[in-house]
Amino acid sequence: MTEKDSWWEGAVIYQLIPRSYADGNSDGIGDLQGLIGRLSYLRWLGVDALWLTPIYPSPLEDGGYDITDFENIHPELGDLSAFHRLLKAAHDQGIKIIIDLVLNHTSVLHPWFQRARWAPKGSTEREVYVWSDDPNKYAEAPVLFRNFESSNWEWDDVAEQYYLHRFLRHQPDLNYENPWVQDQMLGVVDFWLERGVDGFRLDAVPFLFEAEDSRCEGLPETHGFLRQVRARVEESGRDVLLLAEAIQPVKEAAPYLADDELHGAFNFVLTAHLFAAVASGNCKQLKLCLQEAQTVVPGCRWALPLRNHDELWLGDGHLVPEGVIQTIRAGLHQGHGHWLNWGINRRLAPLLNGDPRANRLLHALLYSLPGMPCLYYGDELGMGDWPGLRDRDPNRTPMAWTPARNGGFSSAPDPLLVLPAITAPGYDYRVVNVEVQKQLPGSLLNWHRRMLTCRRLLPALRRGDFEVLESRHASVMVYLRSVESMTVLVAANLSGAGASLSLDLSRWNGARTREVLWGCEYPPANEDWFVYLPSYGFSWWLIGEVDGSDPLNADLHN
Ligand code: NOJ
Repeated sequence: MTEKDSWWEGAVIYQLIPRSYADGNSDGIGDLQGLIGRLSYLRWLGVDALWLTPIYPSPLEDGGYDITDFENIHPELGDLSAFHRLLKAAHDQGIKIIIDLVLNHTSVLHPWFQRARWAPKGSTEREVYVWSDDPNKYAEAPVLFRNFESSNWEWDDVAEQYYLHRFLRHQPDLNYENPWVQDQMLGVVDFWLERGVDGFRLDAVPFLFEAEDSRCEGLPETHGFLRQVRARVEESGRDVLLLAEAIQPVKEAAPYLADDELHGAFNFVLTAHLFAAVASGNCKQLKLCLQEAQTVVPGCRWALPLRNHDELWLGDGHLVPEGVIQTIRAGLHQGHGHWLNWGINRRLAPLLNGDPRANRLLHALLYSLPGMPCLYYGDELGMGDWPGLRDRDPNRTPMAWTPARNGGFSSAPDPLLVLPAITAPGYDYRVVNVEVQKQLPGSLLNWHRRMLTCRRLLPALRRGDFEVLESRHASVMVYLRSVESMTVLVAANLSGAGASLSLDLSRWNGARTREVLWGCEYPPANEDWFVYLPSYGFSWWLIGEVDGSDPLNADLHN
């Protein structure tokens, strides 16, 4: 399968939490049946693929990332036949399904762990997990969930040893030195490949193997195992996306994208730089970051998220320089109030102080940069969050569908709801919901839909080459996306003040230029081409004529 043929190249990925999306059986918890009922909305919106956070049986100590059975569905969400129906219905609508695959750890309630703690020290059963008599082993591995844990080790009274957990103490790390573990997890990959999934979002990939005197991230053995996962996918003969969650600097995340390893990886460094650019109104670092990512791994293999179900992870200075973190904290008015672990625990809209212009601008960048734009459910509406809920739950509240009770998410009595629907001023579900926004032509939702329609019509945005142009303005980012027959020019003003500038378009001297979203004609390209962008403004322009049928046809601009 060549990359050019792959469905995921430049695909728009919509992330959702099945428990919080739509409740199909009125028990207050979202489920697969409910999601099936909302596929027509997702098709209408124009996304290519859905990424479902974990759907497996789990005690839900960590939003389902603590799994007790890798080859089944959490009963509250449905069962394997409901999953089959979901896949079929999604495929009928032209939508791909990506599932979360948690390779690094299980729940403490997984039968493997229960067996391990009772098994004799050193036995194969015990060695399914990583045990030690010394809790100072691997001392250089940082504690990731520092709000909840102070060590990566937990004492187990039955085993009379410590077990390693890079995340919560309820999530023991599997021992990949044990070939049995590798076999089992490759079996899990096969299981879901046979069920027909279109992709895996590989959770926490850097942490599979450990070694002394290292952060225990991205060790050569870890890459070796991921290459085996890739081989399984290749053997299936299907075009299945392997997308890495590796919250690491670009140069450390890039090795996962070796040709025989994973297809894609999230670019979390870019996410931080996008927020820093909006916070400071200066895009110099953002440009450098984009150029670095494209130099290291050219093309569309980076997945581009703004927000997701976790806190906005900024790290301990390893992911992005401390100055970037400070810029975000200062510019987006985040004191210590919303700080969790190593990041800011807010949804996109409140993080941007409720400013829909910044929401549009950041998504306009995502939808036009090389890669796979990732849209987090509810961000297409500017949905708010619920500060004060446990852990990362503020960002995981029910999707707002209608102004009806509980935002039309569920007809169950309120106390049964998985999490409360948002009623905060400015974000109340009676106002911020799909039904209302569909009816308002100028709504954020209709804007997202229009942008995604335009993106679909412009192959240059999906898979074109990328070139940063000189903008002569500190707040304005200018770049080109081009395929053989089409060139799209993008300019984005990251600041809250208007910006006027002139661009040197002498390369296309005399060529027709048209703004894409509304089809407005601009003066022909020249060496001193004047542009005005309002605060947080952006534009996409088509330069020159397009071979074949013109994408800016009447349908789009009706
Ligand atoms: C990353 C996931 O995004 C997060 O939600 C989870 O808590 C950890 N991995 C552990 O699985």
